[in-house]
Amino acid sequence: MDKISVTLTTNYKEKPAGPDIPFGVFTTDHMFLMNYDREQGWHDPRIVPYAPFQMDPACMVLHYAQEIFEGMKAYRDEEGRIRLFRPEENFKRMNDSCERMSIPKIDVDFCVEAVKQLVTLEKDWVPTAPNTSLYIRPFIFATDIHVGVHASHTYQFAVILSPVGPYYATGLAPVSIMIEEDDVRAVRGGTGFTKCGGNYAASLRAGEKAEEKGFSQVLWLDGVERKYIEEVGSMNVLFKIGGKIVTPALNGSILPGITRKSCLQLLRDKGYEVEERRLSVDELIGAARDGSLEEAFGSGTAAVVSPIGSLYYKGETFVISGGGIGPVAQDLYDTLTGIQWGRVADPYGWSQVIC
Ligand code: COI
Repeated sequence: MDKISVTLTTNYKEKPAGPDIPFGVFTTDHMFLMNYDREQGWHDPRIVPYAPFQMDPACMVLHYAQEIFEGMKAYRDEEGRIRLFRPEENFKRMNDSCERMSIPKIDVDFCVEAVKQLVTLEKDWVPTAPNTSLYIRPFIFATDIHVGVHASHTYQFAVILSPVGPYYATGLAPVSIMIEEDDVRAVRGGTGFTKCGGNYAASLRAGEKAEEKGFSQVLWLDGVERKYIEEVGSMNVLFKIGGKIVTPALNGSILPGITRKSCLQLLRDKGYEVEERRLSVDELIGAARDGSLEEAFGSGTAAVVSPIGSLYYKGETFVISGGGIGPVAQDLYDTLTGIQWGRVADPYGWSQVIC
């Protein structure tokens, strides 16, 4: 691969001030781009001023949604250094998404290096206030200009950056979640395990319905029997039931979260018994009724560890952990964010200082 060329902007933007940075609103001054065609493979890696894409109306992604993305963060530690968290894992998962979506694979190490260079250039955009970070959004989309259905022969790869505060408007306070009974997000054999935009498009109607009813997000059931717990809109989901941690096993329709994987390792190392298995909604609601459902929380890059204060199902609301943050979620949040922000020892080598 060629060396990454850099063209600096002449029009620097104002950075958001203060601790309350809304999620996903601001973008930085530069972005990383590279392109794919059959002759050259991935080529022309470049850091350029952040700017809109020009698109032909027949650009294939607009019609057939051949698009994938990733989500990762850069954190500022107490010494002012910038850290990434397991960035290789994101690009390995991106390659799994590429494979399912017929997109040519990327070079994991090269993409990690591109992110490091871009974040280093934009390091002043990594916010300093507690619970803020720089969200990193790599994505790839089909760019052939063609109205017929086939895998594109050309692609755009891009990385944009966004300084963010907590994902949920409630901050770190527990979220209320509605269990969705009608729409489904994904089925086995489909694209549920990938981070493709289409998965999220299919989730929007239920998300809107949940928001209208005052819930933060939906909890999805499996697409075949609508019986087993899968994941929440923007996070994987974990429960403490009868003293054990239970989370849906990866089955092809659930996103293999990097935060999920990290949380499971931390929980096992803290001595919890962890079960990755099928968990039916009936078992979950039964546990909520008999008091053995002690805690529920989500995990995700954007969501970090988000306690779930209540679950709504078939007209009933089940309050969990008295509607507050349970001790396991709090401990996990403290350890995970401690590693991410370099506040606690990292025996795993997950947190990488980049500048
Ligand atoms: C993430 O956690 O990074 C996500 O991609 C979830 C969401 C913002 C789509």
